Amino acid sequence: MDSIEVVNHAIKNRRSIYTNMFSGEPVDDGIIKQMLENGNWAPTHKHTEPWRFVVFKGKGLHKLANFQSELYKKVASEKGTFDQNKFEKLANKPLACSHIIAIGMKREEKESLPEIEEVCATACAVQNMQLTASAYGIGCYWSTGGVTFYEEAKPFFGLGSKDKLLGFLFIGMPKSDKWPKGKRKPIDEKVRWVKD
Ligand SMILES: Cc1cc2nc3c(=O)[nH]c(=O)nc-3n(C[C@H](O)[C@H](O)[C@H](O)COP(=O)(O)O)c2cc1C
Repeated sequence: MDSIEVVNHAIKNRRSIYTNMFSGEPVDDGIIKQMLENGNWAPTHKHTEPWRFVVFKGKGLHKLANFQSELYKKVASEKGTFDQNKFEKLANKPLACSHIIAIGMKREEKESLPEIEEVCATACAVQNMQLTASAYGIGCYWSTGGVTFYEEAKPFFGLGSKDKLLGFLFIGMPKSDKWPKGKRKPIDEKVRWVKD
């Protein structure tokens, strides 16, 4: 394949690989570092580089599992919406991963850009990481579940009140090298060309 075909193939064949598709084997830290390095090359208006990542592995995954399940329990119990199944998912899912990368967006002091631009730049960084994982044959998916949008979660990830937690990249070795087939509606349905 020439380099253009490699890029086209990588983009089209990247898939979200979920925790039930992970084998439990560890992913090499070197690959995680390359994912982070490629994330860091995302486009960024005014060079604010707003993406911040916290990488959990080993005992760190237990810390994250404990933190998010207990926070969920506290908040949901106060609201009267506590669900034991959800609690158990939050306590167990991280343990099926090799690594989890918490995705943060850090606002600058002077806030020279609209918040949405910083969220967009961070999402570009995440896609760079997902494509990198896929190129190495590593499974991952972006989750915005759990405590992602809990204000109380931010300090645990080094984020302040103006920053945002944007979710988690769950990473693991896939059980199979046969990846699921993707599906998309044709691009033509989503594009309007203005020519004349
Ligand atoms: C911002 C964002 C948040 C997502 N959050 C979740 C999630 O919470 N749970 C989940 O199962 N998948 C989540 N996904 C993954 C999507 O379900 C997945 O991208 C979609 O099904 C398309 O599949 P593909 O990634 O294999 O092409 C998220 C994706 C994005 C971009």
